[in-house]
Amino acid sequence: MMFKPKIIGFVCNWSQPTTLNSAGTGRIWGYPRIRFVRVMCIGRIDPVAVLETFAKGADGVLLIGCHPPDCHYVEGNLQTEYTVEILKKLIPLAGLEPERVKLLWYSPSEKQSFGQHVKDFYEQVKNFGPSPLRNEQPQSKLMLNILATKNVASDFRLRVLLGREKELTEGVNVYGEHIPKEELDATFDDIIREEFVRHMFYLLTKTKPFSVKELAETVGMKPAAVLRQIVNMRRRNMIILDHVEGTTPFYKALEVK
Ligand code: FES
Repeated sequence: MMFKPKIIGFVCNWSQPTTLNSAGTGRIWGYPRIRFVRVMCIGRIDPVAVLETFAKGADGVLLIGCHPPDCHYVEGNLQTEYTVEILKKLIPLAGLEPERVKLLWYSPSEKQSFGQHVKDFYEQVKNFGPSPLRNEQPQSKLMLNILATKNVASDFRLRVLLGREKELTEGVNVYGEHIPKEELDATFDDIIREEFVRHMFYLLTKTKPFSVKELAETVGMKPAAVLRQIVNMRRRNMIILDHVEGTTPFYKALEVK
């Protein structure tokens, strides 16, 4: 059977074309059908919501907002740029192509057809094929990955750091140094990867206590690297010692009730 991608379009109320009704539903006749969700400003869309959409089986997500600097809520489109930046770093960790998310600036007064933008994205997603998360069981490795990315996206410190990117790359730090964007990007990538691993360990140890060796085997890392993360997680009260078998300690997630 021919693959028809399931695509969700989050569309800003002020940039949606008149062919969509006030609920953001309806369709653009003559173009592939995608499901739209109307929001008052695209800046309201949280990266966690997009990751959840993928977890529920979407093959692609299109975010449509007003052209900068036309946001009715001043910084909504700037906020969305950060959201997409986080998503492009997180989605590959969940096993998906980053191009399955697209940000589009659009105005109903534009000459280029909205339907054509939709079609281009539809075709792009179609070429990738179905999302590997479609029909996955809740406990599968892929679902665990997407859950870990959602936890990383919720991390307050990461959001603050990404939100300061412009300030950090355009200005100078307290020592009067300018930080090149590539350098900061590489730092963000490292931080995100490390956080992802920690959240993965957290989710795994929620199901049962794990030793360092077992965690290393499960995720394919060196035990020394796992131990480094465990030390960090214990410091942050994410994980605690559950019991010791012989000389081997077993750890479990510290859940706040
Ligand atoms: Fe349209 Fe903010 S109002 S992007």
